[in-house]
Amino acid sequence: MEKEVVLNKESRYLKVIEDLYHLLEGETDEISVMSTICCEVFNAFDEFSWVGFYRLTDTELMKVGPYQGGHGCLVIPFSKGVCGKAATEKMSQLVKDVNALPYHIACSSKTQSELVVPVIDKEGKVRAVFDLDSEIIDYVDDTDLKYVEIICSIVSNLYTAK
Ligand code: SME
Repeated sequence: MEKEVVLNKESRYLKVIEDLYHLLEGETDEISVMSTICCEVFNAFDEFSWVGFYRLTDTELMKVGPYQGGHGCLVIPFSKGVCGKAATEKMSQLVKDVNALPYHIACSSKTQSELVVPVIDKEGKVRAVFDLDSEIIDYVDDTDLKYVEIICSIVSNLYTAK
């Protein structure tokens, strides 16, 4: 039987990005792009229990968009949670232990660490955030930050391509 090769984190992101490049060629629909990104990232990493987007739907208000994993909270205002902080500060949030953050919103009590990256258009407006949750404490690191920011730029570029 052929042995499955387990790639390291960086190699897995590089494969995801290469696959996305082919899968999304010419695609400009944000829901199709977000859905495909969630699928590729979620299936590449057993370590993530939830991977998904929250989209800006009103002033300082986000609603859940495409995602993979268990159900997520439906609405997150900018004033709440790690997602809200990422949107307000327009800065990625790398949280190695969510238990240490009183403002963290626990959509699942099993989540231990998470990364939230804002999707910002050319005018500097936050269009969405991309949230990746892990049930492993201290799982997310600078490698996730680097590649998830690159992946989010695929979505950011949509808002200027039209
Ligand atoms: N933990 C996030 C909420 C989203 S869910 O975990 C899917 C937050 O604190 O904003």
